[in-house]
Amino acid sequence: MISYLEAEANPVRNTGAIRLYDAAAFEGMRKACQLTARCLDSLVDIVKPGVTTDTIDAHVLAFALANDTVPATLNYRGYTKSTCTSINHVVCHGIPNDKPLRDGDIVNIDVTLIVDGYYGDSSRMYPVGKPKRAAERLCEVTYRSLLLGLAEVKPGARMGDIGAAIQEYAESERCSVVRDFCGHGVGRIFHDAPNVLHYGKRGDGVEMRPGMIFTIEPMINLGKPHVKVLGDGWTAVTRDRSLSAQYEHTVAVTESGCEVFTYSPLGLDAPGLGLETTTLG
Ligand code: MF3
Ligand code: CO
Ligand code: CO
Repeated sequence: MISYLEAEANPVRNTGAIRLYDAAAFEGMRKACQLTARCLDSLVDIVKPGVTTDTIDAHVLAFALANDTVPATLNYRGYTKSTCTSINHVVCHGIPNDKPLRDGDIVNIDVTLIVDGYYGDSSRMYPVGKPKRAAERLCEVTYRSLLLGLAEVKPGARMGDIGAAIQEYAESERCSVVRDFCGHGVGRIFHDAPNVLHYGKRGDGVEMRPGMIFTIEPMINLGKPHVKVLGDGWTAVTRDRSLSAQYEHTVAVTESGCEVFTYSPLGLDAPGLGLETTTLG
């Protein structure tokens, strides 16, 4: 059973109902999400061969503290870092460490900053030096799949429309969609209802209504979709060790369609792909 509730009139916990946020909350989300986007922008010149993911993590923490905020992942369910850094065949939730990035790696950096109680959640792929063509192509397919998902967001559409658009395109490019992780409602709660699947059937799922806020964050593999979580309890990798990529935006359903809160103010939503605009070409 799906229900909707007024976000402001209800306590801040995941009740399973879908919150509908008001204009003041949209303003709060714009602030949080734009700070997250600026943080991700600031990493473009930092990610290069030889740099460790711990250094990237320290940079994100310093950026957050300098802006009077804290990263949402810090001490979240036992997680102790300010970012997730997922390299090559790591699908998501890679834990920053002291190993240097290597020329040709592709790394997803996922940041969530909390501003005035609102969560801005976004991630991008960063090329390290010069990745191989196959890795670049995977990033491009994954980014385009996110844009196709965004294009489905409008009142009256169904959540399944998002998943179908992403899956149809990714599979047409001979890539696969990870099933084990999904996007999520977000706002005054980090991970809230509804689940946002990146695969599925048009017409399935919850109806989108103005005021809903959620992430779309497809994880796309060059090989099979299957993942396993390593012994650290977090790091998810492809079972076949094929490359995996992910981009994430936080978006809202508006009266007329969709507002993407986490767009880069500098047009760096897909750094290194030679795409300067944020919209589908
Ligand atoms: N930012 C991730 C997401 O997109 C969640 C990371 S939770 C963590 O939902 F604990 F792994 F950091
Ligand atoms: Co997310
Ligand atoms: Co995220």
